Amino acid sequence: MDLLSLTLTDWALGGTLLLFVLYKYGTWNHDYFKRKGIKNPKPLPFLGSMATMVFKAKPFAYLLEDICKEFEEEPFVGIFQFREPLVMVKDPELIKRITVKDFEFFTDHRQTITENADSLFSKNLFSLRGEKWRDMRATLSPAFTSSKMKNMFHFMNQCGQQLGDYLHKEISKQQPGKPFVLEMKDLFTRFTNDVIATSAFGVQVDSLTEKNNHFYTMGKAVTNFAGIKHLKFLGFMLFPKVMEFFGIGFLGKNEKQFFSDLVHQTISTREREGIVRPDMIHLLMQARKGELKGDHEKNGDMVNGSLKTKNIDLTDEDIEAQAMIFFFAGFDTASILLSFTSILLAIHKDIQRKLQQEVDEMLGEDQKLTYEKVQKMKYLDMVISESLRLYPPALLIDRLCVKNYTIPATEKQPEYTIKKGEGIWIPVYPIHHNPEYYPDPEKFNPERFSDENKNSINPYTYLPFGMGPRLCIGQRFVLLEAKVALVHILSRFNLTVMEKTPLPLRLTKDGFVMSVEGGFWVGATPRQQAAT
Ligand code: HEM
Ligand SMILES: *[C@@H]1O[C@H](CO)[C@@H](O)[C@H](O)[C@H]1NC(C)=O
Ligand SMILES: *[C@@H]1O[C@H](CO)[C@@H](O)[C@H](O)[C@H]1NC(C)=O
Ligand SMILES: *[C@@H]1O[C@H](CO)[C@@H](O)[C@H](O)[C@H]1NC(C)=O
Repeated sequence: MDLLSLTLTDWALGGTLLLFVLYKYGTWNHDYFKRKGIKNPKPLPFLGSMATMVFKAKPFAYLLEDICKEFEEEPFVGIFQFREPLVMVKDPELIKRITVKDFEFFTDHRQTITENADSLFSKNLFSLRGEKWRDMRATLSPAFTSSKMKNMFHFMNQCGQQLGDYLHKEISKQQPGKPFVLEMKDLFTRFTNDVIATSAFGVQVDSLTEKNNHFYTMGKAVTNFAGIKHLKFLGFMLFPKVMEFFGIGFLGKNEKQFFSDLVHQTISTREREGIVRPDMIHLLMQARKGELKGDHEKNGDMVNGSLKTKNIDLTDEDIEAQAMIFFFAGFDTASILLSFTSILLAIHKDIQRKLQQEVDEMLGEDQKLTYEKVQKMKYLDMVISESLRLYPPALLIDRLCVKNYTIPATEKQPEYTIKKGEGIWIPVYPIHHNPEYYPDPEKFNPERFSDENKNSINPYTYLPFGMGPRLCIGQRFVLLEAKVALVHILSRFNLTVMEKTPLPLRLTKDGFVMSVEGGFWVGATPRQQAAT
């Protein structure tokens, strides 16, 4: 029988059969949760619960929020990330058990990049697992204590000064009295880049003035998950084994070489010439020599003192991998935080004014910013906390179950065993927008975090930096960085809503990254200071 002699019916029959097989393949495990008496939103073949994201019908944050609303009463629900079943945990008590009390069952993040695929990526703290993670975390923790941040302040403050000077220069090019209209994400990406360069890699650059400096271009390229990189990232998420087989690396060769040369050269120059510059490279070199001491203070990430300072053998590559994490974990997140905060301040003039008053008062006569002054700015802290609630840059936290774990039955759900290898999602954005925890949740209201009010917030409903021993190690670093930037801006400029400001703010529909439709356009004008 040759192809030509096939009739239309044969074709139709064959096609139907093929579709049926595909459908079965795409839905084969869709009764996974149902069989166990656990609720789940209705999945689609292949796409599972991710359809609205793939088709860019809705921001990813809303996809999560819709699921949480649909199953308001359930402590957790089942979802399908494409074909893979995951448990999405919403109940604060259960979140506490998974991230803190029963941490030993959930010590790792889910697999994205395998060790062989890209060691620079897989060797960094975020990706490390089990014992390797524990040792590295203990080694790095002393580099992120308050006293070390005080050293970092100096570098950040220089970048803040550059930021203020840049705005000043650009405004003076405008017609007098006309605001300078700028896109905040671009501004803060450049600022953040410069902070990373000086505090993590020991090089000084000014990416605001020298727009295309090499460090900035390389940093952008290394974190650019858009386009082909985005495909690669998806590839790793969905088929890590296949990507590994074909030897498809995650990071570009050139970029990898650039940063690895930079770290190597810096280390060897410093060792040869005995240069001490109190930045991250220095701290990591100290850690290698076993000279890095922690503070005698209660460290946020030492939840019950189980993590002790410990030294492990750090190779140059390990040091590189940890310095690179500033790019992977701290580049986009920090600029997202600053972009949202500044546009919120432009919209909420009264809050901006109040913050400027605090800044003016604290800066005092000499107008000089110090680490201590930043720490004393309470309202600044409230504003940033509220910005992180409303628009958490990491809108989701994940965990990997490493040992079978049984969630006891509740009125709502039967007993359920999370199997070793199963993933957990903790939907940060919907939790932050739940009116039960935050009345009038869409309102930007820093007073929620005032001394009187903040005690009424359940800590397991406020998760911008995660929770438990896996908490963001860069929290102190980024809070200081953001505060320094805001002080430099607000002490010298007013931020205003312009025609180009996309009001009301709407989250973008593509990707996992928090951003607004139309861009973070804000106007800046110099403040008339009485004295000058
Ligand atoms: C506003 C900015 C930032 C946000 C919102 C953020 C958020 C987070 C979140 C949610 C996690 C996962 C926590 C968990 O699973 O419980 C995390 C982990 C981490 N972050 Fe950040 N982060 C920020 C900035 C930074 C910076 C500047 C660094 C630079 C060092 C950094 C380094 C890390 C590392 C190393 C981890 C992994 C920690 C571990 O697994 O032990 N982050 N971050
Ligand atoms: C710390 O955690 C361990 C393991 O979960 C537990 O056995 C120990 O009692 C905890 N220590 C304190 C002081 O709570
Ligand atoms: C974990 O649970 C699965 C399924 O219930 C079971 O097949 C497996 O043997 C369990 N593993 C351990 C180590 O108990
Ligand atoms: C800056 O904002 C404050 C408060 O809104 C206002 O009093 C002041 O005039 C503004 N300065 C300029 C130059 O617009």
